[in-house]
Amino acid sequence: MIVKESTKWWQKAVFYQIYPRSFADGNGDGIGDLAGMISKLNYLQELGVDAIWLSPHFPSPFVDCGYDVSDYEDVGPEYGTLEQFKHFLNQIHQRGMRLVLDLVLNHTSDQHRWFIESRSSRDNPKRDWYIWRDGDPGEPPTNWFSAFGGSAWEYDAHTSAYYYHYFFKEQPDLNWHNPAVKEAMFNAARFWLDMGVDGFRLDAVGTIFEDETYPAIPEGMSQEELYRMASQYVQPKGEKTVVSYHEEMFKHQVDRPEVHLIMQELRKVIDEYDDRVLIGETDDIAFYGDGTNELHLIFNFPLMRTNHLTAQHVSQNQLERLTALPPMAWPCNTLGNHDSARIYTAFGDGTHNNVQNKLYLMLLLTLKGTPFLYNGEEIGMSDYIIDDLSRFRDPLSVLYYQLEKRVNGSDERTTVLKGALMGRDRNRTPMQWSNALNGGFCPPETEPWLPVNSDYAAGVNVDDQVSNPDSMINFYRRMLHVRRQNTALQTGEYQEISTDSADILCYSRSDAEQTLLVVLNMSPEIQRVRLPFKVKQILINTMKNWVHIEDPEPTLQPYQGVIYIAA
Ligand code: GLC
Repeated sequence: MIVKESTKWWQKAVFYQIYPRSFADGNGDGIGDLAGMISKLNYLQELGVDAIWLSPHFPSPFVDCGYDVSDYEDVGPEYGTLEQFKHFLNQIHQRGMRLVLDLVLNHTSDQHRWFIESRSSRDNPKRDWYIWRDGDPGEPPTNWFSAFGGSAWEYDAHTSAYYYHYFFKEQPDLNWHNPAVKEAMFNAARFWLDMGVDGFRLDAVGTIFEDETYPAIPEGMSQEELYRMASQYVQPKGEKTVVSYHEEMFKHQVDRPEVHLIMQELRKVIDEYDDRVLIGETDDIAFYGDGTNELHLIFNFPLMRTNHLTAQHVSQNQLERLTALPPMAWPCNTLGNHDSARIYTAFGDGTHNNVQNKLYLMLLLTLKGTPFLYNGEEIGMSDYIIDDLSRFRDPLSVLYYQLEKRVNGSDERTTVLKGALMGRDRNRTPMQWSNALNGGFCPPETEPWLPVNSDYAAGVNVDDQVSNPDSMINFYRRMLHVRRQNTALQTGEYQEISTDSADILCYSRSDAEQTLLVVLNMSPEIQRVRLPFKVKQILINTMKNWVHIEDPEPTLQPYQGVIYIAA
């Protein structure tokens, strides 16, 4: 096998996101932990993923489900110990896999000792580590909003001043203009890099700086109005009017040019080490820098920001994205994560969800770039609507519950459902390992931290699927295996090919060794296709009893996908 020497591991790898609280509970307390994750490493190896992105595992008061970090150099006690973490990392490396952590740069928890010191007095040495401004109670420094509800400024009576928070008020923004902040955070990064961690997913990178001239946003903009617009579409919130209202509302608080200097410096830190990776939670390609001096990977979020994954949408997305990338930059695709509806729910039409889930995996693993999967997709997990307010864990669900009440005055039941639908608990429910009570996530007598989706009992669980050759998980395994075995799918050239049908997405991936033809029926209709060139073998097929190698003009079933090897 010829692999270009310059090809990096993170260009060929398939990443799998673990949401630690919901993955596997090793000690029976209803919360996922390191012991649980360690016990599932063989599972991940057999599944065929190459790298793990671990959502925050740090100590945290858990207001924003771990994205409020109170110590960057330790492990949350509910997850285990630092020693266990080292064992976890070591076990991952022994299996030839990699681990990237989630680094939250923009803000800390308000329980972080840096903030506790900062708010203690106006002349505390850490005062300037956060963004403090004078102002009278009820008169915040600007009319800016927090992306997570209410004003972006919180009044602190102790020192009679406001601090800035882009997210929840329990997540004060760090002041990145202060070199001491940068140094402390880079040291935290080094702490894990020295231990051998393979890189970071950088949380909310676009929010690190804000416009320091503090201009006002237009009078009259409100969270209620944004909610009124967004709640019509729920997820994936692709509607243009909502997006532009949102952009206008937060334009002084994101994507400031200064952030690129920080990214360049962080890249230098990473480059002191051998072969590590930085992945930005942003879709702004400016974060690639010149393709070599900022982040290695930037998510192609526009691909998933649609209600329908049509051939036209994907084709247009690829055209725009691939032509916009700077030379040397490497694409990165995903269809879901802990902040978005699960693929099964977001893109399934209610009739064909299973075949669609397989088709979209085939798409994701054959487009050009590094794919990211989210835990649970491999068994076809769907969003689970929690209709009990007392079981909400994501404060965004609570915020939307309140907004629905305020804006639309709906009855209690509708309001709870709306909160559940617009918040993020629904796509973070525990992994379903078996058809035992609680889906095998935790002991039957334990209450899991979030309810388990009841469909675990109807076959949506690992154990039941492993023994069924036609199951979702076995398709995932086959497809991951095919990608690993065929370098053209990892690093080959991507060329879209037009066909007679607007609903067929057709492209080739080719390298020095082989040319592969990917034919995807992205519609609920049967489609006949004339293959653009001669093929000699079917590499993989989402529906094995349909489409055979003898058909020069195959008829594809609704949402069927086939990969051929060119003759
Ligand atoms: C990122 C995380 C999200 C979190 C937010 C604030 O967007 O993915 O879960 O709420 O940052 O840290």
